[in-house]
Amino acid sequence: MERPIGIFDSGIGGLTVAKAISRILPNERFIYFGDTAHLPYGDKSNEAILKYSKGISKFLIANNCKTIVIACNTASAVSYEYLRDKYAGNVPIINVIDPIVEAVAENGTHKKIGLIATKATVKSGVYQEKINRRNPEISMAVLPTPLLAPMIEEGFSKDKISKTVIENYLSNPVFEGIDSLILGCTHYVLIKDEINDFFNGKVTLYDSTDIVAHKILDVFESENLMSDKKKADNHFYVSDITEGFQESTSRFYGDKIKLEHLKL
Ligand code: DGL
Repeated sequence: MERPIGIFDSGIGGLTVAKAISRILPNERFIYFGDTAHLPYGDKSNEAILKYSKGISKFLIANNCKTIVIACNTASAVSYEYLRDKYAGNVPIINVIDPIVEAVAENGTHKKIGLIATKATVKSGVYQEKINRRNPEISMAVLPTPLLAPMIEEGFSKDKISKTVIENYLSNPVFEGIDSLILGCTHYVLIKDEINDFFNGKVTLYDSTDIVAHKILDVFESENLMSDKKKADNHFYVSDITEGFQESTSRFYGDKIKLEHLKL
């Protein structure tokens, strides 16, 4: 099926998910929309996040997307159920939270799980509720970490500043005794190694890259949505464009890409 996958995020963080999709589903093409004009979502109200998510989804559906991937934890926490119900029977909506919750449940050994995410994701309680529903025995330690996404976007990683900020957050007593940590924001993939170093490799880390791409693969196989050949290029749209965004894309995506400005 030659239709594209629609992927959206508040900005460029979701490119980490897009990259995993391009690696694990190389025959698929996608339309990426980064809502840079409204970034960060993590500090916005639910009303605002839902409004932006609706507008972007409408655009992706109008562009014939065969599925929508909400490549943002914050938008997944706030808008997933609305979008799933609205497009039920039309296109599958995939969020970045459920695949992580499933992977955690499949592991089956965790007793205390940490979560770092934006304020809005933490406040939504979605991770806590979904993990608890599957296993009420698991205790959760959650901490909003609002400095991390802007820090990463500004290019601070593997340096003194990132080390200080990461240590400051992760040495919080709530995380004492955790056996796993959910990186509940698409940006955090870029500091995964540093987080791993902080815990001396002793804490299992979950992020929304390969886990989400594999989920899409499963859905495509079961719903017969796989494409057997990529016939056109990917498109990367942003609602506001600056040199800074353009420069950061290669850090998030790995390869050079060209952003296109599109106001919805
Ligand atoms: N990409 C967003 C997420 O995964 C975080 C950035 C933002 O606050 O907009 O939650």
